[in-house]
Amino acid sequence: MGAGKSFVARAVAEQLGTRALDLDAEVERIAGRSIPEIFDERGEGAFRRLEKEALAALPSDVGVVSLGGGTVVDEETRQTLLRDGIVVTLTADPSVLAERVGTGRGRPLLGDDPLDDLRRILALRAHAYAEAHAVIDTGKLGAHDIAAEIVAVRNLRPIVVPLGLRTYRVEVGRGVRHRVGLRAGEHSDGDAILVFDGGSERPWPKDAVRDLTLAGKPPIEVRLPGDEAHKNIGSVERIWDTALEAEVDRRAIIVGVGGGVIGDLSAFAASTLLRGVALGQIPTTLLAMVDSSVGGKTGFNRPRGKNLVGTFYQPKFVLCDVETLSTLPDAERVAGLAEVVKSAWLDCEASVALLERDADALMAGDAEATIRAVRMSVLLKSRIVHEDEQESGRRMLLNLGHTVGHGLEAASDYRGIRHGEGVALGMIAAMRVAQRLGRGRSEETERLTRLLDRLGLPTDLDARLNSRALGFIGSDKKRRGDKIHFVIPRLPGQTEIDLLGLDEVRSALAAS
Ligand SMILES: NC(=O)c1ccc[n+]([C@@H]2O[C@H](COP(=O)([O-])OP(=O)(O)OC[C@H]3O[C@@H](n4cnc5c(N)ncnc54)[C@H](O)[C@@H]3O)[C@@H](O)[C@H]2O)c1
Ligand SMILES: [Zn+2]
Repeated sequence: MGAGKSFVARAVAEQLGTRALDLDAEVERIAGRSIPEIFDERGEGAFRRLEKEALAALPSDVGVVSLGGGTVVDEETRQTLLRDGIVVTLTADPSVLAERVGTGRGRPLLGDDPLDDLRRILALRAHAYAEAHAVIDTGKLGAHDIAAEIVAVRNLRPIVVPLGLRTYRVEVGRGVRHRVGLRAGEHSDGDAILVFDGGSERPWPKDAVRDLTLAGKPPIEVRLPGDEAHKNIGSVERIWDTALEAEVDRRAIIVGVGGGVIGDLSAFAASTLLRGVALGQIPTTLLAMVDSSVGGKTGFNRPRGKNLVGTFYQPKFVLCDVETLSTLPDAERVAGLAEVVKSAWLDCEASVALLERDADALMAGDAEATIRAVRMSVLLKSRIVHEDEQESGRRMLLNLGHTVGHGLEAASDYRGIRHGEGVALGMIAAMRVAQRLGRGRSEETERLTRLLDRLGLPTDLDARLNSRALGFIGSDKKRRGDKIHFVIPRLPGQTEIDLLGLDEVRSALAAS
C-alpha cells in the first residue's frame, strides 16, 4: 500500500510492450462495487476469493499485474504466482508509505493512525513479502529505474526458495558466477571469506577473488583439499581459524566455490562461525548445482559415517554457473545427471519428457540443455524444501534411489562406484521393489533404465547387487529399527514413501 505498484506496473508493461492490469480495479469491475463496499458487505474472505478468481482468469494480453497488498498473504496464491510468474515485492520505509497514502481514505485496512497501521501490516506480512523473485525499495529509486530493475529480474528468472524471511534465490546460467561481488555486497557489510579447492587448472576461485575485489570485498582465502576424505572437522577448523585470525566479525560472509564437499564444509562453518555468518554458494559440480547447494543441509564426516554432524542453514544466494562445468571430468558430470533424473521422476511427466528430449545434448555437455536440467532440478528441490525444510516428511522423497545406492557405495568402500552411479542403480532397484509390491509396472522400469543408459549411467543392477551390497542396505542413518523409509517411484510425479521391512526390501531385490 503506497509502494507505487500500479504506477510501476504500467512502466514495466511499457518496457515489455504488454498491458498492465490492476488487480484491485479488476476485482471492483467483476464485483460491481468498490473495495470498501466489498469489505463492508461481504468481508475480507470474500474479497480474497474474488482476487483469486480474477487472477485465475487474467486476459491473455495482460503481462503485468499489480496485486493488492494482501493478495500474496494467501499461501496458495503466493506459491502459484512464484511458480508461474515473476513476483516482485515493492516496499519502502513505513514513514514513506504513510506519506504517500495520506489519510488512507478508501483503504479499508487503515484506521486513524496510518503510520502505525502500516508498521503493523508490514510486520504481519513480512514473511509473505520476502518470498519473491526480488524485493525493491521504492523509497530510493524513480519509477523508471524500478521498472528497469524488474525487467532485469524477469530476464534473469532466478529460482526462489521460499522460506519466509530466510528466502533466497538460485541463479542459473552462463557467467552468473560473476555476480558474486554484487550478491555478497547485498547480503554482507563485512569481510568475505572464500573457501575453495583445486589448482590453477580451475579458474573459478580466481574469478571469485577478482569479482569480490572489484566489489570492494577482497576475500580472505581458505584453500582446502576438496575430496571426501577431507570433509572432516579439521577442514572446518581451517575455515574457522583463518577467519578468526583475520578478525572478521558477524557481518562477514563465507562463499564456497566448489563441489558438494566444499559446499557442505563452507555452509557448516558459516552456520557456526561467531554463531552464524552469511553464506553464499558457487557450486562447480553438477551434483552440487542440482542438489547439495540448495536446501540448507550442511555437515561433515565422522569415522562412524558420512554427514553425521551438521546443521540446517540456508545460504543467502546460490550462483549455478554452467561454465564452471567445463573443467569437470566427464564421469563426475555424468554421475550428477543421476540426481537430475531423480528430480525429473519426482517432479512430473513433462520433466521426464524434457530429459528424454535433451538426453543426447546433456550427455554431450550442451550448455542450454544443462541449464534446463539444472533449473528443473532446483525448482523441484525448492518446492520440496519449502514444504518440509527439516526432512520430517516430504523431503524424504529426495532419497529416491539412495537406500540401495548407499548400500552399493558402502559395499565398494566408497571407491568402486560414484554416488550418482549408485543412485542410478538404486532408482532401478526402487522400481523393482515397486513392481514386486504390485505398485509399479515394468514399462516404467524400462523407461527409466533407457533414460539412465542414454545419459551414460550404469544400469546393470544385477551384476552389482551382491550379498555384501544387500547387507549394507539400510545401514545408513535413515533406519528405524528393522524397518526403513523406502521411496517408491511409480509414474513420474507419483512417488510414495513407505515404511518397509528390511527383509522385505532385500527379498524383493534378490528375487529377480
Ligand atoms: N548438503 C546436501 O544437501 C548434500 C546433498 C547431496 C550431496 N552432498 C554432499 O556432496 C558431496 C559430493 O559432492 P560432489 O559430487 O560435488 O563431489 P566433490 O565435492 O567431492 O567434487 C568431486 C571432485 O570434483 C572436483 N571438482 C569440483 N568442481 C570441479 C570443477 N568445476 N572442475 C574440476 N574439478 C572439480 C573436486 O575437487 C572433487 O575432486 C558429498 O560429500 C555429499 O555428502 C550434500
Ligand atoms: Zn544424492
